[in-house]
Amino acid sequence: MPMITLQFGQCGNQVGHSFFSLLSRDIKLGYSNEVSLYCQESVDNWFQKISDGNKYLARAILVDTEQKVINDIKKKQSGLHWEYNSNNVISSKGGGTGNNWAFGYGKKGPELKETVLECVRKNIEDCDMLHGFVNILSCAGGTGSGVGSYIIEELYSEYPSKLFISSVVLPYSAGEVITQNYNTVLTLAKLYDVTDMFIVFSNDQLHKMSNSLLKKDSVILQDLNDLIAMKLGSIFQPISDTPLYNFNDIISQLAAHIEYKFVTIKSAPHYPEENKHFEPGISWNLLSDHMKQTLKESEGIDWETKSIKSKLSSRHSQTQYVKCIGNVLITRGEEMQDSGAALASTFNDISMYPQWVPEDAKFQHFHQNRKYLEMNKFISLATNNSSIYHAINGISENAWKVYTHKAHVTSGRGKRLPKHKIDSYATVQPLLNRSLTFSEWPESEKLALLEGLKRHGPYDLDSLCEAVPGKSRDNIKMALAMWWKTARTAMLTSSRGRKNVEGVKKANLPKVILPVEKAPIDQWLMKLENSQAAGSSCQSKLLARTLLYISKYESHPRPEDCNGVDFKALYEFMYAMMRGFPGKNLNAETSAYLLKSIKDIEKFMNERGKVQEMSFLEKTQRITEQDKVLRTYGGKRVKLESAVEPNLDEKKFKELLEIPGFNPLKVKAELLKK
Ligand code: GTP
Repeated sequence: MPMITLQFGQCGNQVGHSFFSLLSRDIKLGYSNEVSLYCQESVDNWFQKISDGNKYLARAILVDTEQKVINDIKKKQSGLHWEYNSNNVISSKGGGTGNNWAFGYGKKGPELKETVLECVRKNIEDCDMLHGFVNILSCAGGTGSGVGSYIIEELYSEYPSKLFISSVVLPYSAGEVITQNYNTVLTLAKLYDVTDMFIVFSNDQLHKMSNSLLKKDSVILQDLNDLIAMKLGSIFQPISDTPLYNFNDIISQLAAHIEYKFVTIKSAPHYPEENKHFEPGISWNLLSDHMKQTLKESEGIDWETKSIKSKLSSRHSQTQYVKCIGNVLITRGEEMQDSGAALASTFNDISMYPQWVPEDAKFQHFHQNRKYLEMNKFISLATNNSSIYHAINGISENAWKVYTHKAHVTSGRGKRLPKHKIDSYATVQPLLNRSLTFSEWPESEKLALLEGLKRHGPYDLDSLCEAVPGKSRDNIKMALAMWWKTARTAMLTSSRGRKNVEGVKKANLPKVILPVEKAPIDQWLMKLENSQAAGSSCQSKLLARTLLYISKYESHPRPEDCNGVDFKALYEFMYAMMRGFPGKNLNAETSAYLLKSIKDIEKFMNERGKVQEMSFLEKTQRITEQDKVLRTYGGKRVKLESAVEPNLDEKKFKELLEIPGFNPLKVKAELLKK
């Protein structure tokens, strides 16, 4: 399913160009006779075929405040089989942002907003059901970070149900840009709420990889970009036999938990271009052991930058693994034989995950037989783990130090914008180190908050701010989030029969906001209920997310015990439907159960005269043009020869619809055919 890439600033545009070049190289775009589902899907996701000739347009929008980088990129395009659409190149007049986040966010972003959004709208018209956006930017400059965060926020408010992936590049820690720490904190804080999953790259780490693995004496930015592109391609290129479900599967595995969204990609093998023809024969087992080794916390050693064959010395063999929220391993190339099961047991190691991560949410493995970039074997591990927090924490602490020494960054016109920084610090830092900040609250303020909570409950933030005037809104949100999380952890562990005396004691939690007796599903529904304006049609992702969490984190009865109804699959299906993804097939019993439930709800609402709810339910069933819930048809899709679907005749199509589970929501046949 198509993704639109938004590339911001110098870094974003250069990385974006490397990414599209890599994709086109992988599928030999425009010059190969290969007709496979893999190529078809890759083209559908990232390119649009120009009707005449053998040229493709990248589904990318380029945004910069200066012309130079984009002009240089355009020059690199001659002779390629793909190019950028010249209507998708947006740059502003009047110079760049001078590495100033505030100038980008407060001035250039608003200036560019309408042009970018209009361009996005036009691009969506050309997509057959847009899946989401991949944003590429560096956190350190002013355009990527400032303009990028502003535009992405605006985009999110226009397309809240689409997928938002932000691929961000962290600056060298030695620091080329004086404002880089501020800019990074501000960017991550602004993007946090509007991003489903971050893919984080660190220039320091990529530099080391180029040095030690690619044997580059003098590393240039292009080397780093090639590595980024290779890693992104390794998780974004088609990965399974169930097309159209890739991005969704990866994201729901890696970033289902709203408080942990930072993902990094480890990959191997990487070797110098000139060694390509002597690709070493490495077994899948060796590669997967290497990937697992990259998760070791071994005295600052980054195993990804070491050769695959380097082993842990006995000194390191006892070291712990960093804690992972979720891991996705993708292997591409040679058949795996029986290594698949071995991989699962390697990566399901309980010492790698916090106790509360459920068994089936820890690890997923996908294998793609087609060779990636013609390599016999390529492995990548997309991992959501705690190691990236060291880098971000360092940046955040530096930003805070500079801030407390009153080195404010101005908006470029001499106007200070310290409020942004304080708020952002309050957003990023707690994500990194909640307990520290919270334990510093004076006792009197904790008591005031407790009183406020008793009186107003946890959702009336305005009243809570009044109750604790000494703390900012973000501080209060942060404290509530922390209590909520500790409560949930305590509840989950105790519900599994383990006492969590320590956890509860440590946090010294006031009873009033601890609904420990409530099941997670009730907590989620309570949160949902309180966050939806009465009568609003659910445009937010919260309900969808709730369904996903229920599917992933609740324990479900076995289908055999429920007349075949698979509740886990049912919740996942509803999540997929709400987000506009094609759902996985439900078995006949489950789809019958879902249909019956909808009917029951309808009856229930009718009996109680719930007019608003009825109209919402009706809307979901009656998809009509005039309700404007249908996307605009983007024109005929160009398909590769072999993938053109046979023209189903009327009778066959009707028969198809009768198959149990094929159309569980009874969407009208005319609409399905379209
Ligand atoms: P202004 O130049 O202030 O308008 O903003 P910008 O967003 O265009 O700046 P830029 O993208 O150059 O951001 C600077 C940061 O990005 C520094 O940390 C650089 O190391 C990093 N950077 C710049 N270009 C590249 C690149 O091509 N690849 C990588 N990996 N990093 C880059």
